[in-house]
Amino acid sequence: MVDVILETRNLTRHFNGFTAVNDVSVKVRRGHIHALIGPNGAGKTTFFNLLSKFLTPSAGAIVFKGRDITDATPAQIARQGVIRSFQISAVFPHLSVLDNVRIGLQRKLGTSFHFWRSERSIACLNDRAMDLLASVNLVAFAHDIAADLPYGRKRALEIATTLAMDPELMLLDEPTQGMGHEDVDRIAELVKKISADRTILMVEHNLTVVAGICDRISVLQRGSVLAEGTYAEVSADERVIEAYMGSGPQTLAGVH
Ligand SMILES: Nc1ncnc2c1ncn2[C@@H]1O[C@H](COP(=O)(O)OP(=O)(O)O)[C@@H](O)[C@H]1O
Ligand SMILES: [Mg+2]
Repeated sequence: MVDVILETRNLTRHFNGFTAVNDVSVKVRRGHIHALIGPNGAGKTTFFNLLSKFLTPSAGAIVFKGRDITDATPAQIARQGVIRSFQISAVFPHLSVLDNVRIGLQRKLGTSFHFWRSERSIACLNDRAMDLLASVNLVAFAHDIAADLPYGRKRALEIATTLAMDPELMLLDEPTQGMGHEDVDRIAELVKKISADRTILMVEHNLTVVAGICDRISVLQRGSVLAEGTYAEVSADERVIEAYMGSGPQTLAGVH
Protein backbone atom coordinates (compact mmCIF):
# COMPACT_ATOMS: atom_id res chain seq x y z
CA MET A 1 0.00 0.00 0.00
CA VAL A 2 1.21 3.49 -0.84
CA ASP A 3 1.95 5.60 2.22
CA VAL A 4 0.18 8.92 1.68
CA ILE A 5 1.25 11.61 4.15
CA LEU A 6 -0.88 14.45 2.80
CA GLU A 7 -4.05 14.38 0.81
CA THR A 8 -6.37 17.05 -0.49
CA ARG A 9 -9.91 16.03 -1.30
CA ASN A 10 -11.80 18.18 -3.77
CA LEU A 11 -10.11 21.27 -2.41
CA THR A 12 -11.75 24.40 -3.75
CA ARG A 13 -11.33 28.13 -3.22
CA HIS A 14 -13.44 30.89 -4.72
CA PHE A 15 -12.67 34.60 -4.74
CA ASN A 16 -15.82 36.61 -5.36
CA GLY A 17 -17.25 34.05 -7.73
CA PHE A 18 -13.91 33.29 -9.39
CA THR A 19 -12.62 29.77 -8.74
CA ALA A 20 -8.86 29.92 -8.18
CA VAL A 21 -8.58 26.32 -6.94
CA ASN A 22 -11.13 23.95 -8.37
CA ASP A 23 -11.81 20.52 -6.93
CA VAL A 24 -8.15 19.60 -6.45
CA SER A 25 -7.48 16.11 -5.14
CA VAL A 26 -3.78 15.40 -4.72
CA LYS A 27 -1.96 12.69 -2.80
CA VAL A 28 1.57 13.29 -1.58
CA ARG A 29 3.51 10.16 -0.76
CA ARG A 30 5.73 9.97 2.29
CA GLY A 31 9.38 10.51 1.42
CA HIS A 32 8.69 12.09 -1.94
CA ILE A 33 9.70 15.43 -3.32
CA HIS A 34 6.40 16.39 -4.90
CA ALA A 35 6.26 19.41 -7.17
CA LEU A 36 3.38 21.64 -8.04
CA ILE A 37 3.82 23.31 -11.39
CA GLY A 38 1.65 25.16 -13.87
CA PRO A 39 1.40 28.35 -15.85
CA ASN A 40 0.98 31.70 -14.14
CA GLY A 41 -2.45 32.09 -12.63
CA ALA A 42 -2.96 28.31 -12.41
CA GLY A 43 -3.72 28.52 -8.68
CA LYS A 44 -0.44 27.21 -7.24
CA THR A 45 0.01 29.94 -4.66
CA THR A 46 -3.64 29.79 -3.65
CA PHE A 47 -3.42 26.00 -3.25
CA PHE A 48 -0.29 26.42 -1.14
CA ASN A 49 -1.98 29.07 0.97
CA LEU A 50 -4.83 26.66 1.61
CA LEU A 51 -2.41 23.92 2.67
CA SER A 52 -0.47 26.16 4.99
CA LYS A 53 -3.66 27.67 6.40
CA PHE A 54 -3.16 31.21 5.24
CA LEU A 55 -6.45 30.82 3.38
CA THR A 56 -9.61 28.89 4.23
CA PRO A 57 -11.00 26.55 1.60
CA SER A 58 -14.46 27.21 0.19
CA ALA A 59 -14.96 23.44 -0.04
CA GLY A 60 -13.04 20.20 0.28
CA ALA A 61 -10.71 18.75 2.87
CA ILE A 62 -7.03 18.49 3.76
CA VAL A 63 -5.87 15.31 5.46
CA PHE A 64 -2.44 14.92 7.06
CA LYS A 65 -1.44 11.45 8.25
CA GLY A 66 -5.06 10.37 8.18
CA ARG A 67 -6.21 13.29 10.28
CA ASP A 68 -8.46 16.03 8.95
CA ILE A 69 -6.58 19.32 9.30
CA THR A 70 -8.93 21.41 7.15
CA ASP A 71 -9.86 23.66 10.06
CA ALA A 72 -6.53 23.69 11.87
CA THR A 73 -4.50 26.87 12.37
CA PRO A 74 -0.95 27.37 11.03
CA ALA A 75 0.39 26.89 14.56
CA GLN A 76 -1.56 23.65 15.00
CA ILE A 77 -0.32 22.12 11.77
CA ALA A 78 3.23 23.25 12.58
CA ARG A 79 3.03 21.31 15.84
CA GLN A 80 1.88 18.29 13.88
CA GLY A 81 4.89 18.58 11.60
CA VAL A 82 3.73 20.58 8.58
CA ILE A 83 5.96 23.60 8.15
CA ARG A 84 6.05 26.09 5.36
CA SER A 85 9.42 27.58 4.74
CA PHE A 86 9.82 31.31 4.29
CA GLN A 87 6.71 32.27 6.20
CA ILE A 88 6.40 30.35 9.43
CA SER A 89 10.12 30.46 9.95
CA ALA A 90 10.99 34.00 9.03
CA VAL A 91 14.62 35.02 9.26
CA PHE A 92 15.51 37.76 11.73
CA PRO A 93 17.72 40.00 9.62
CA HIS A 94 19.64 41.69 12.44
CA LEU A 95 20.62 38.50 14.21
CA SER A 96 23.52 36.26 13.29
CA VAL A 97 23.05 33.22 11.09
CA LEU A 98 23.75 30.97 14.09
CA ASP A 99 21.26 32.79 16.33
CA ASN A 100 18.57 32.45 13.69
CA VAL A 101 18.98 28.68 13.68
CA ARG A 102 19.15 28.57 17.48
CA ILE A 103 15.82 30.38 17.69
CA GLY A 104 14.31 27.81 15.35
CA LEU A 105 15.59 25.02 17.60
CA GLN A 106 14.24 26.73 20.69
CA ARG A 107 10.83 27.07 19.07
CA LYS A 108 10.87 23.37 18.38
CA LEU A 109 11.91 22.49 21.92
CA GLY A 110 9.40 24.87 23.45
CA THR A 111 9.94 26.81 26.61
CA SER A 112 8.76 24.32 29.20
CA PHE A 113 12.16 22.97 30.17
CA HIS A 114 13.90 26.28 30.83
CA PHE A 115 16.79 24.70 29.04
CA TRP A 116 18.49 28.05 28.51
CA ARG A 117 19.33 28.12 32.20
CA SER A 118 21.59 25.15 31.87
CA GLU A 119 24.96 25.59 30.24
CA ARG A 120 24.95 22.02 29.06
CA SER A 121 21.72 22.44 27.16
CA ILE A 122 23.02 25.64 25.59
CA ALA A 123 26.12 23.80 24.40
CA CYS A 124 23.89 21.06 23.05
CA LEU A 125 21.79 23.61 21.22
CA ASN A 126 24.91 25.17 19.70
CA ASP A 127 26.10 21.80 18.46
CA ARG A 128 22.77 21.07 16.86
CA ALA A 129 22.67 24.56 15.29
CA MET A 130 26.14 24.10 13.81
CA ASP A 131 25.11 20.69 12.44
CA LEU A 132 22.16 22.32 10.71
CA LEU A 133 24.36 25.07 9.31
CA ALA A 134 26.71 22.40 8.02
CA SER A 135 23.83 20.66 6.28
CA VAL A 136 23.06 23.83 4.31
CA ASN A 137 26.74 24.77 3.80
CA LEU A 138 26.59 27.86 5.98
CA VAL A 139 29.17 27.08 8.65
CA ALA A 140 31.55 29.71 7.29
CA PHE A 141 28.77 32.30 7.66
CA ALA A 142 27.68 31.33 11.20
CA HIS A 143 28.68 34.62 12.80
CA ASP A 144 27.60 36.88 9.95
CA ILE A 145 24.50 39.00 10.29
CA ALA A 146 21.65 37.35 8.36
CA ALA A 147 20.86 40.55 6.43
CA ASP A 148 24.41 40.60 5.03
CA LEU A 149 24.16 37.16 3.39
CA PRO A 150 23.99 36.97 -0.39
CA TYR A 151 20.48 36.14 -1.64
CA GLY A 152 21.01 32.42 -2.32
CA ARG A 153 22.57 31.95 1.13
CA LYS A 154 19.59 33.69 2.73
CA ARG A 155 17.29 31.13 1.18
CA ALA A 156 19.59 28.40 2.49
CA LEU A 157 19.32 29.95 5.96
CA GLU A 158 15.53 29.95 5.67
CA ILE A 159 15.71 26.27 4.89
CA ALA A 160 17.95 25.72 7.93
CA THR A 161 15.56 27.57 10.25
CA THR A 162 12.71 25.46 8.89
CA LEU A 163 14.73 22.27 9.34
CA ALA A 164 15.40 23.34 12.93
CA MET A 165 11.70 22.74 13.57
CA ASP A 166 12.12 19.22 12.23
CA PRO A 167 9.15 19.16 9.87
CA GLU A 168 7.77 15.87 8.67
CA LEU A 169 6.29 17.65 5.69
CA MET A 170 8.05 20.72 4.43
CA LEU A 171 6.22 23.13 2.14
CA LEU A 172 8.59 25.08 -0.06
CA ASP A 173 7.28 27.98 -2.07
CA GLU A 174 9.54 28.54 -5.07
CA PRO A 175 12.82 27.95 -3.27
CA THR A 176 14.93 28.93 -6.29
CA GLN A 177 12.96 32.02 -7.25
CA GLY A 178 15.10 34.95 -8.34
CA MET A 179 18.37 33.04 -8.23
CA GLY A 180 21.27 32.76 -10.62
CA HIS A 181 22.34 29.37 -12.00
CA GLU A 182 24.88 28.62 -9.32
CA ASP A 183 22.48 29.28 -6.44
CA VAL A 184 19.71 27.35 -8.20
CA ASP A 185 21.95 24.29 -8.45
CA ARG A 186 23.03 24.62 -4.84
CA ILE A 187 19.46 24.96 -3.50
CA ALA A 188 18.24 22.07 -5.67
CA GLU A 189 21.01 19.89 -4.30
CA LEU A 190 20.15 21.03 -0.80
CA VAL A 191 16.46 20.23 -1.20
CA LYS A 192 17.41 16.78 -2.47
CA LYS A 193 19.68 16.25 0.52
CA ILE A 194 17.18 17.34 3.16
CA SER A 195 14.48 15.20 1.58
CA ALA A 196 16.29 12.09 2.80
CA ASP A 197 14.18 11.77 5.93
CA ARG A 198 11.17 13.92 5.23
CA THR A 199 8.55 14.76 2.63
CA ILE A 200 8.70 17.90 0.55
CA LEU A 201 5.95 19.59 -1.39
CA MET A 202 7.21 22.47 -3.47
CA VAL A 203 5.95 25.01 -5.93
CA GLU A 204 8.75 25.38 -8.44
CA HIS A 205 8.98 27.39 -11.64
CA ASN A 206 12.35 26.09 -12.70
CA LEU A 207 11.58 22.97 -14.70
CA THR A 208 15.20 21.86 -14.74
CA VAL A 209 15.02 21.67 -10.96
CA VAL A 210 11.69 19.84 -11.14
CA ALA A 211 13.07 17.38 -13.68
CA GLY A 212 16.23 16.89 -11.63
CA ILE A 213 14.95 16.25 -8.12
CA CYS A 214 11.18 15.71 -8.01
CA ASP A 215 9.65 12.24 -7.68
CA ARG A 216 6.15 13.27 -8.65
CA ILE A 217 4.59 16.29 -10.27
CA SER A 218 1.08 17.70 -10.24
CA VAL A 219 0.38 20.15 -13.03
CA LEU A 220 -2.26 22.76 -12.31
CA GLN A 221 -4.09 24.76 -14.92
CA ARG A 222 -6.92 27.20 -14.30
CA GLY A 223 -7.34 25.88 -10.78
CA SER A 224 -7.58 22.19 -11.72
CA VAL A 225 -5.18 19.28 -11.89
CA LEU A 226 -4.29 18.89 -15.56
CA ALA A 227 -1.87 16.00 -15.22
CA GLU A 228 0.08 14.08 -12.64
CA GLY A 229 3.03 11.72 -12.74
CA THR A 230 6.79 11.64 -13.05
CA TYR A 231 8.51 14.42 -14.95
CA ALA A 232 8.91 12.13 -17.96
CA GLU A 233 5.19 11.42 -17.92
CA VAL A 234 3.88 14.94 -17.49
CA SER A 235 6.36 16.53 -19.88
CA ALA A 236 5.25 14.13 -22.62
CA ASP A 237 1.59 14.92 -22.02
CA GLU A 238 0.11 16.87 -24.93
CA ARG A 239 -2.19 18.87 -22.66
CA VAL A 240 0.69 19.92 -20.46
CA ILE A 241 2.79 20.96 -23.45
CA GLU A 242 -0.12 22.98 -24.76
CA ALA A 243 -0.73 24.63 -21.41
CA TYR A 244 2.88 25.75 -21.27
CA MET A 245 2.96 26.90 -24.88
CA GLY A 246 0.23 29.39 -24.16
CA SER A 247 1.93 30.84 -21.09
CA GLY A 248 4.71 32.92 -22.56
CA PRO A 249 8.41 32.48 -21.85
CA GLN A 250 8.04 29.38 -19.71
CA THR A 251 8.27 26.22 -21.79
CA LEU A 252 8.99 22.58 -21.31
CA ALA A 253 11.42 22.54 -24.20
CA GLY A 254 15.01 21.72 -23.46
CA VAL A 255 14.30 20.12 -20.11
CA HIS A 256 14.84 16.42 -19.84
N1 LIG B 1 -6.96 37.18 -3.04
C1 LIG B 1 -7.39 37.03 -4.29
N2 LIG B 1 -8.51 37.65 -4.74
C2 LIG B 1 -8.95 37.47 -5.99
N3 LIG B 1 -8.37 36.69 -6.91
C3 LIG B 1 -7.26 36.04 -6.53
C4 LIG B 1 -6.71 36.16 -5.22
N4 LIG B 1 -5.59 35.39 -5.14
C5 LIG B 1 -5.46 34.82 -6.35
N5 LIG B 1 -6.44 35.19 -7.17
C6 LIG B 1 -6.63 34.74 -8.57
O1 LIG B 1 -6.60 33.34 -8.59
C7 LIG B 1 -5.88 32.87 -9.73
C8 LIG B 1 -4.76 31.97 -9.30
O2 LIG B 1 -3.76 32.76 -8.67
P1 LIG B 1 -2.48 32.12 -8.01
O3 LIG B 1 -2.88 31.10 -7.03
O4 LIG B 1 -1.64 33.23 -7.50
O5 LIG B 1 -1.78 31.43 -9.27
P2 LIG B 1 -0.26 30.96 -9.49
O6 LIG B 1 0.43 30.99 -8.18
O7 LIG B 1 -0.36 29.60 -10.08
O8 LIG B 1 0.33 31.93 -10.47
C9 LIG B 1 -5.42 34.10 -10.49
O9 LIG B 1 -6.33 34.35 -11.53
C10 LIG B 1 -5.49 35.20 -9.45
O10 LIG B 1 -5.74 36.43 -10.04
MG1 LIG C 1 2.15 31.99 -7.59
